[in-house]
Amino acid sequence: MSIADTRLGRIEGPTPREIVEVLDRYIIGQAKAKRMVAIALRNRNRRKRVPEALRDEVTPKNIIMIGPTGVGKTEIARRLSRLAQSPFLKVEATKYTEVGYVGRDVESMIRDLVEIGLGMVRSEKAEEVGPKARGRAEERLLDLLLPPPRNASRDDASVADEEGLTPQQRHRRARARMRKRLDDGELNSQEVEVEIEQRGSAKIEGVIGVGGLEEMTQGLKEMLDQMMPRQKKRRKLTVAEARRALEEEEIERLLDMEKITQEALERVQQSGIIFLDEFDKIAGRGTAGHGPDVSREGVQRDILPIVEGSTVATKYGMVNTDHILFIAAGAFHDRKPADLIPELQGRFPLRVELDSLGPEEFKRILIEPDNALTKQYSALLATEGVDLVFTPDGIDEIAESAARVNQQGEDIGARRLHTVMERILEDTSFAAPDLFGQQVVIDRAFVKERLKDVIEDQDLSKFIL
Ligand SMILES: Nc1ncnc2c1ncn2[C@@H]1O[C@H](COP(=O)(O)OP(=O)(O)OP(=O)(O)O)[C@@H](O)[C@H]1O
Ligand SMILES: [Mg+2]
Repeated sequence: MSIADTRLGRIEGPTPREIVEVLDRYIIGQAKAKRMVAIALRNRNRRKRVPEALRDEVTPKNIIMIGPTGVGKTEIARRLSRLAQSPFLKVEATKYTEVGYVGRDVESMIRDLVEIGLGMVRSEKAEEVGPKARGRAEERLLDLLLPPPRNASRDDASVADEEGLTPQQRHRRARARMRKRLDDGELNSQEVEVEIEQRGSAKIEGVIGVGGLEEMTQGLKEMLDQMMPRQKKRRKLTVAEARRALEEEEIERLLDMEKITQEALERVQQSGIIFLDEFDKIAGRGTAGHGPDVSREGVQRDILPIVEGSTVATKYGMVNTDHILFIAAGAFHDRKPADLIPELQGRFPLRVELDSLGPEEFKRILIEPDNALTKQYSALLATEGVDLVFTPDGIDEIAESAARVNQQGEDIGARRLHTVMERILEDTSFAAPDLFGQQVVIDRAFVKERLKDVIEDQDLSKFIL
């Protein structure tokens, strides 16, 4: 008997293969890690299709990515977050402190994830009501540009002008013409006076500055928001600006925040993903009376219930964390996963190791990714009218030098490429404005020349590269 169900067609969202393909555009190598996260991501969507009775039993298989520094752990997370069509939060485990200490408590990661979920659902719904909101905004804009005639008395309305049109008919014709000019963008820079609803926080920001607002705790912000009456404010804006502002306001009116909140909570609980970076930094069971160790184990103990599945109160409602997927990553260079408290270790059944990178990977990293360093530098200098060209042997030399420095000193992975490139291109970068219209060829000789002093002197290289 088969339980494979083809009636619903294929699952939506990217397949593991497609996910890996996208990751491949930015991260060289690390195939095992890419596969594992791709499967985990896909499993989120699979689970939604599992018959309800069984669905609750399918808990996510949390992952730990282990690998030396600078080999792509955080990069994988960054790219994954754009791919995942689920609420995705990336946090540094080190930013949390034990409950009772100054700092962020671990539950705040769930609150942050809810905010992300809300943003996601809200923008989807905003897109849905977009056309309607745009229509309404346009009508309001037309009312502003061409105020409708006052509802005059009947006699007045029936008075026809030379063309035989009533004032209403005349107005309608003028409005149609105005609409045409508006749509053609003719009026974009003309000014109009608009009444816009101002949200509370916008005003608070005005008083204390954006930075201060960010530091304010969520609760306080919320409270102030509610205390501030929603005021209408008259502002002079260009037609283009007014259109945007009115559209925003109409969208706001059309959205059902209650429904959006419910959907967001549901989505966070069913398919949320939290990426815990720098996870190794909270390993260790220091019990010393002071120093950072105090809270390490405490943070682990605080994280445990969240990973195991518990209910966290957020201002939008309770969130059950049973099915949130956790992906942890860390160098685990001087600590091992075994240094985590055993209960927590058990909640991360999947382990994957990332490989350290050598000259072959470096060569590819330099040229292949969509955001490859050589592409970045070329684009940067192109703005100065300088044509920066990397020859294959120049690339080889950069990659080999970086690998050598990593071997001799500390292995900082692909980050070494950044320091080496900076060094090689320092002079060019400085003199670029004088090189307008010229071509600069980065070949082996060029690279060797620029690195000569530092590579020869090991002590110097420690400081500079
Ligand atoms: N495999 C790779 N392919 C392409 N670029 C890479 C790769 N590994 C690292 N990089 C680049 O090197 C830099 C550092 O990588 P990343 O932040 O992912 O390191 P990490 O593994 O998280 O290290 P750490 O343990 O120190 O946090 C980034 O600019 C990233 O783009
Ligand atoms: Mg990292």
